[in-house]
Amino acid sequence: MNISPEIIEDIKFRNNIENVVSSYITLKRAGSNFNGSCPFHSEKTPSFTVFPATQSFYCFGCGAGGDAITFVMRMENLDYISAIRLLASRSGINIPENISSNGKKEVGRQRILDMNKEAARFFRDALFDEKVGKIARDYLIEKRQLSPSVIKHFGLGYAPNNFGALHDHLKKAGYTDEEMVVGFLCGKGKNNSVYDYFRNRVMFPIIDVSGNIVAFGGRVMDNSEPKYLNTSDTPAFKKSKNLFALNYAKNHCENTMILCEGYMDVIALHSAGFENAVATLGTAITSEQARIFSRYTKKVVISYDSDQAGQRAADKAFRLLQEVGVDVKILKTEGAKDPDEFIKKFGKEKFSALIDNSKTRFEFETDKILAKYNINDMNEKIKASNELCAVIATYPSEIERELYIRKMSKIFELPTQSIQRDISAIIKRKNKSQKASLMNDVYRTRSGIGDRINPESASNLGANKKEEAIIGLMLLKDEHMKLGLEKLSTNDFVTSFCKRVFESISNIYKECGKFDIGYIQGDFTVDETARITKMLTERESLSINDTKTLEELISSLKEEKNKDDEDSFDSILKAIEKKKK
Ligand code: UTP
Ligand code: MN
Repeated sequence: MNISPEIIEDIKFRNNIENVVSSYITLKRAGSNFNGSCPFHSEKTPSFTVFPATQSFYCFGCGAGGDAITFVMRMENLDYISAIRLLASRSGINIPENISSNGKKEVGRQRILDMNKEAARFFRDALFDEKVGKIARDYLIEKRQLSPSVIKHFGLGYAPNNFGALHDHLKKAGYTDEEMVVGFLCGKGKNNSVYDYFRNRVMFPIIDVSGNIVAFGGRVMDNSEPKYLNTSDTPAFKKSKNLFALNYAKNHCENTMILCEGYMDVIALHSAGFENAVATLGTAITSEQARIFSRYTKKVVISYDSDQAGQRAADKAFRLLQEVGVDVKILKTEGAKDPDEFIKKFGKEKFSALIDNSKTRFEFETDKILAKYNINDMNEKIKASNELCAVIATYPSEIERELYIRKMSKIFELPTQSIQRDISAIIKRKNKSQKASLMNDVYRTRSGIGDRINPESASNLGANKKEEAIIGLMLLKDEHMKLGLEKLSTNDFVTSFCKRVFESISNIYKECGKFDIGYIQGDFTVDETARITKMLTERESLSINDTKTLEELISSLKEEKNKDDEDSFDSILKAIEKKKK
C-alpha cells in the first residue's frame, strides 16, 4: 500500500467516527457511546453502536464493525483506497493520484462511469444504425411495441453480434483493456485476449439518481439462454444498492412506488404513465434496496409476475419493506403473466384499478391459504389455521395482531382466545430459537459463510462460545480479570484468535496494571477490535455476570481442551512416556 500510515492516522484523526457516522444516520447518545439504527441491515430496535473511545462501531444485529474507514467503505460501497480518498478530501488532506492497494494504477469509479457513457452512446448508435440495428429495432418496436421516444427516454441500445466492436470503439476512445474488464464491458479470454461481453443483445442502461450510467442489462431477442446478462458488481456499481429507473421514478413517487420484477415491466408502466415504477436488477429485493424505497416513498405496491415464482418472491419483498417502515401492498395481474403483458392486454385504466384494489400482506396471505385448503374439511382447516396463525405471529405490533385475530376468527369460525393462545405460543418458540441462533447468525451474516475474524470458531462452536464469554467477563470487572489471569494460560484457549486476545490482554495487564479496549488496538485490526468489543458488550447485556459463572466457564473450557488432547498424537505420545517412567 502506498499511502503512508502517517497519512492514514491523520485522516482518522480529522474524521472522528461520531461525525463520520452521523453524517449518514442519526445517532443518540447512550452513556459514553452512541446508538442508532444500523445502516447495513433492516432493524426496528437500534443495535448499531459507535464507541468514541476506540473510534470504532459495532452492530449487535448483523455483526458489521470497524472504524471510520471501514464504515465509509461499507456505506459508499468503496474499496479501501477510495474510502481513504473520500475521507481525505472531506478533511482537506491531499493524497497523490493513481494509487491502489497493490500499488498498481487503479481503475476508479469515475473512469468506469465515463466509459459506460461512451459504451451507451455506442449501443444507441448501433441500434439506430440502418443496417446493424435493424434486428434490434424490429424486436423493440415491432415485437415489444416500444415507441422510438420511449426507447430514447430509457437510452436503450443494441450490442452488435461481434466479439470486438465495442472493444475497438472504446480503445479508440482511450480506454485500456483492464478498464473494460474491470468495468464488466469485456471479458478476458485465452492468451489475455479481450472480447465484448454483451453481443447481439438489446441493451438497458442502469442509471443512478445522479444520472450516471452505472451498469447495463442485455436481453437476447430470441429464446436463447441466458435471457439477460447483467453487469456484475464493479467499483462503480453494486447490484444490491440500485434500482432500475429510479432516476425517473424519484420525481414521481412521493406517495407510492411500484416494484416490478423486470426491466420491460418498468418500461411498459412508465410509457403508460406510471412513472413511479422501478425494478430490482435481476436479484430478489435486498434490505439495502428496501431502505432506498423508505427514503423516497411512503407506500410500495408490489407488482411481481403472476406466476408462482413471482408470488413467492413477494413474501421477501413484503418482509423487507415492512421492516423499513413503508406501507406495502400487492397486486396480481390476473389474466396476464406480468404488468407489461397486462397493460398491453387490458390497458392502463385496468392497471390503475389493480393498484386501487391492491391487497395488504394479511389479505394476500389469507387468500393464498384459503386457495390452498378447503376449510370445510377439519384436517385442512387445522393446517390452514396453523399457517395463518404463523403469519399473524410475524407482526410486531400487538394491536395489529389483535385486528387480524378478529378477522381470522370470523373467517375460520373459531374463538379469538384460542387463536390468540396459539399465536402467543408461536411467538414464544420463535423468540427462544432466535436467541439460541443469535451467535451463529452474527458469524454467518458477517462474512457470508464462515467467520472471517475467527475462522476456527466454526469447527469449535461450543468452545469458542466459552472463550468469548470468559474474555467478555474478564474485560467487564477487575476482579474477573485477576481471576482469569490467575487460573488460565494461553494454551487453555482453543482458537488461535482467542489465544492471541488472551495473550495480548495479559501482557498489557502485566505492563499497565489495568486494562482498556483502547490499549489493544495496536495489536489487532479494527474488525478484530470490534469483535473483542462485542465479547464485552454481549456480556454486559446479560444479568449473570458473577465470579461463579466465570469459574464454571473456566473449568468447562479446560475440560474442552482435555477432550481434544486425549485424541491428539501429542498426548498419546505423552501418555506412553508417562507409562515408561
Ligand atoms: P423476466 O424473465 O420476467 O424478464 O425476468 P422481463 O424483464 O419481464 O422480460 P420479458 O418481458 O420476458 O422480455 C425479470 C427480471 O429478472 C432479471 C432481469 O432483471 C429481468 O428484467 N433476469 C431475468 C436476469 O437478470 N437474468 C435472466 O436470465 C432472466
Ligand atoms: Mn417478465
